[in-house]
Amino acid sequence: MRMVDLFSGLGGASQAFVKAGWKVERYDNNPLFYNRNSEYYVPYTKKWCAMTDELPTGRIDFLFLAPPCYEFSTAYNAPRSIAQREGIEYEPDMQLIERSVQIIDELKPRYWGLENVLGASKYLARYFGKHRIKMDSCLIWGNFPIVGFKEMEKGRKEITNNKHRHSPIRSNHNAKIPYWLSDQLRKSVQFQMMLDDFENSLMDLSWACSSLTPLSDE
Ligand SMILES: C[S@@+](CC[C@H](N)C(=O)[O-])C[C@H]1O[C@@H](n2cnc3c(N)ncnc32)[C@H](O)[C@@H]1O
Repeated sequence: MRMVDLFSGLGGASQAFVKAGWKVERYDNNPLFYNRNSEYYVPYTKKWCAMTDELPTGRIDFLFLAPPCYEFSTAYNAPRSIAQREGIEYEPDMQLIERSVQIIDELKPRYWGLENVLGASKYLARYFGKHRIKMDSCLIWGNFPIVGFKEMEKGRKEITNNKHRHSPIRSNHNAKIPYWLSDQLRKSVQFQMMLDDFENSLMDLSWACSSLTPLSDE
């Protein structure tokens, strides 16, 4: 099974897929993550610029996209908050979101998910409709099965720490999808695929049975 993680950053979204033995490809434009000599190198990451580089080819079972949230963030220093404080009308740059729409359309993955912050909700609805899940301040749109997410959210205790506050890639640590969320995405996609395959094999079986010629009694 193959997962493609676009705008992969620290690879949070795909970490459980790697562990479960999926074939994972990560794509990002930050040399700190794709350069093998970098101290922050994230395995399986390739250099990729969303607006100009080619897309991976072949069948994809799960595509995940995490375009940057900067334009939509309501954090104090984000452009949207600054504009609001200055009374200026704000329109976010939608280029990477529109590119994401094109990519999903072109790659036609079996399942896909796209993650962004709560503040993106009103801007992304026109492209993707309503988000499928909300986990803290993270929203995920897509066509993946949502079995199990509610239970997980209820039973979960947020673990926050300031371990990375002095790191040069602090914002990437903050944006990293946690393991439990990656694993829940993996489980729902993988189990749904197993169910689909099982149903297809039953259909194949019934087709095979119906095409058998009954044995004659002679
Ligand atoms: C929200 S972060 C991804 C977080 C990731 N899902 C994780 O769990 O670590 C967005 C990523 O998009 C990358 N990025 C920003 N602009 C890009 C572009 N034009 N092409 C490719 N990657 C880009 C950034 O380097 C950053 O790592």
